[in-house]
Amino acid sequence: MTINPQGQSNKYHSLISQRVGQLLPSGIRRFFDLLASMEGVISLGVGEPNFNTPWHIRETAIYSIEQGYTVYTSNVGMLELRELLSCYLKDTYKLAYKPNSELLITVGVSEALDLAMRATINPGDEVIMPDPCYVSYSACVILAGGIPIMVTTSEEENFEISAVDIEAKITNKTKAILMGYPANPTGTVMPANKLKEIAEVARRYNLLLISDEIYAKLVYGATHTCMATLPEIRHSTILLGGFSKTYAMTGWRIGYAAASEEIISAMTKIHQYTIMSAPTMGQVAAIEALKSSDNSVTEMVEEYNQRRLMMVEGLNTIGLPCFEPKGAFYAFPSIKATAMTSEEFAERLLLEEKVAVIPGNAFGKSGESYIRCCYATSLAELEEALARMERFVAKYIKI
Ligand SMILES: Cc1ncc(COP(=O)(O)O)c(C=O)c1O
Repeated sequence: MTINPQGQSNKYHSLISQRVGQLLPSGIRRFFDLLASMEGVISLGVGEPNFNTPWHIRETAIYSIEQGYTVYTSNVGMLELRELLSCYLKDTYKLAYKPNSELLITVGVSEALDLAMRATINPGDEVIMPDPCYVSYSACVILAGGIPIMVTTSEEENFEISAVDIEAKITNKTKAILMGYPANPTGTVMPANKLKEIAEVARRYNLLLISDEIYAKLVYGATHTCMATLPEIRHSTILLGGFSKTYAMTGWRIGYAAASEEIISAMTKIHQYTIMSAPTMGQVAAIEALKSSDNSVTEMVEEYNQRRLMMVEGLNTIGLPCFEPKGAFYAFPSIKATAMTSEEFAERLLLEEKVAVIPGNAFGKSGESYIRCCYATSLAELEEALARMERFVAKYIKI
């Protein structure tokens, strides 16, 4: 709010829109800023693979630049990439999406999420989502003029969201359910029967389902069920996927949305006015990733699995009980034994032992008393991080 020359406040003169004013600064950002000013820190903070993008993908992209692939692509993305994605979704899930009308290539899942919200949400619409969840979900809903409605999940229930709890939050303003499994920050993979119950609720109340499946390929001894395969909601689901995590391609900025022609054309309207087209070199790299990266992905998943086992066992041993994550690359241990808040714990751990983790409350109220540790870093660094955390916990453990 600003004050006019007469000394009266006038909310219409605020430089910043009310929607943006509602957003809290990301809890994650604050830690990155602190971290950037320190040396010798082991970061379990950023949710990013420590692998380089496989060489054959990088090489193909370099060659594409040499060949002059330096211009815009079609608004919806390169046809070859859409065709390959269509085949991928058919081979993996037996889902048929038409490359010409039901797929849109975006600037990461980040853009796809924003588009999905802005294309479907009217002011005041409510969007139900799990708590804790990925930090952008509620922000994208607010920016689209909607209202995020959080459904508490708990460690006792493996941080799974329940159809009963979702149904209890439905009002005549509910427009959509937004969720992402395998989950950031908990690593939860939802069992198929529970997803089916949620699909049934969505169908009964005629709700849109936005499913962020960016970690679909990163599962360990569990089966990921794609929401769009559930026949109840196939046509009311917006499926979001991307290349950042599976292929270690965070910087290339490529994601996609798969949905009905009506929804994809609405999302494309916003995309063409605000983005034009996703990065061309990134799209060329994504084509190569889809064509020939199965072995690289298998190797990375095996490596993540080793780290996951070590991390979870290590955390439990040092006194931070950790539920077993079956997907993504995050461990979400409880810090209740230290009686600190998540922010206090994360800040002191960083300052005293130079280990960066993300306070669980950055992902929602139900994340309080937990921390998120990303194990997409080398085994040697994880070992050292655990040794430092052990020293820290031993100092502060209360019970
Ligand atoms: C659950 C989830 N969705 C989406 C994203 C954004 O991914 P992208 O790099 O494709 O924009 C992330 C990144 O951390 C994520 O964890």
